[in-house]
Amino acid sequence: MKKVYVGMSADLLHTGHLNIISEAAKLGELTVGILTDEAISSYKRLPHLPFEDRKKIVESIKGVHEVIPQETLDYVPNLEKIKPDFVVHGDDWKTGIQKSTRERVLNTIQNWGGRLIEPKYTSNISSTKLNQALKEIGTTPEIRLKRLRRLLNAKSIVRVLEAHNGLTGLIVENAEVIKNEVKKEFDCMWLSSLTDSTAKGKPDIELVDITSRLNTINDILEVTTKPIIYDGDTGGKPEHFPFFVKSLERLGISAVIIEDKIGLKKNSLFGTDVEQQQDTPENFAKKINIGKKAQITEDFMIIARIESLILKQGLDDAIERAKIYIDAGADGIMIHSKETDPNEILMFCHKFKSFEKKVPLVVVPSTYNEITEQELIDAGVNIVIYANHLLRSAYPAMINTAKIILENDRSLEANNSCMPIKEILNLIPGGK
Ligand code: SPV
Ligand code: MG
Repeated sequence: MKKVYVGMSADLLHTGHLNIISEAAKLGELTVGILTDEAISSYKRLPHLPFEDRKKIVESIKGVHEVIPQETLDYVPNLEKIKPDFVVHGDDWKTGIQKSTRERVLNTIQNWGGRLIEPKYTSNISSTKLNQALKEIGTTPEIRLKRLRRLLNAKSIVRVLEAHNGLTGLIVENAEVIKNEVKKEFDCMWLSSLTDSTAKGKPDIELVDITSRLNTINDILEVTTKPIIYDGDTGGKPEHFPFFVKSLERLGISAVIIEDKIGLKKNSLFGTDVEQQQDTPENFAKKINIGKKAQITEDFMIIARIESLILKQGLDDAIERAKIYIDAGADGIMIHSKETDPNEILMFCHKFKSFEKKVPLVVVPSTYNEITEQELIDAGVNIVIYANHLLRSAYPAMINTAKIILENDRSLEANNSCMPIKEILNLIPGGK
């Protein structure tokens, strides 16, 4: 019996996939390689369905003999294992990102006389359109909550951008660029205390209460599907923290980050210019532990944020605290710095690498922002948060427009600084 191989993501399964499978099954014993979450997110958005679900679905399709994981976009490792007589793929991969993958398939299978069969791509079904339709349907709290852990497993770094209302949520949800044929986008939203407070005209001192912040979250949840990391400031009183955790979980927030400070919290980027007090590691470990006991799902994450470098307590103190917090059950560590040089962060990362007990590492390069994502990946960072950039860019633009109107006694001169009226009317669909 001839051996046949098909590689696919099988996320939004449609008749085009079924067509490929039935054509392939006619040629012999069919093995389907399902691309893992990691393989897919190396060149596009994380799939809607986790690998195990996609595997189960394809296993039940008529004509499929076996399903195996395909761990890279590149087919070669699986082809070398199976040495199929036929590889079947829709003819759409002759151009675009998959072109070089196709060439490698051709070069490899010719070593044993294998053939590439390319049925015509089912062109009236577009995964992009299906994706859009799914976004319109929305998501559930459970799916959203789980998505951060899936991203951490699949991606070399999880890219997070601040959102502080529905509109900025939509920007994080939809902004994308295509670079080297790879679609790049943000994976997740950061519910910054600084930008949420500033957008409300209030200082970042835990003055905006949880009820008000949950309103911001709700506005964002209503119009987006991406996961959210919540800036929980100090986590409040230990007795209040369990309620906090349960509320966030119920809404489908993936993680809360709490910082090891007590008393009146001030923004970290003030550093030692203002009075700020760090909690004792023991007290803070207790708070983490109380939070972990309160959570209901397995997937919700409580991430401990270490302020030792901000408060000039030194690297050793930061490392010591990281170990204590991990032992207390922290699902991740955020290390913060307000230096313009990434040195102290990189030294922390270096020591963190040799920890026996590993958890994801989070950084917020607001001041040391020359550092690239690749350098952070190399240092072992798992989550990068761009913590305040949408608000920081919008505010100067708005001030500028306000001044132009004042200076000219009319708004004509502000036209160039403003999006056209037609554009804002159509920005949010459904207004017509
Ligand atoms: C925030 O965005 O509110 C943060 C990060 O907590 S920082 O402003 O750098 O403290
Ligand atoms: Mg904050």
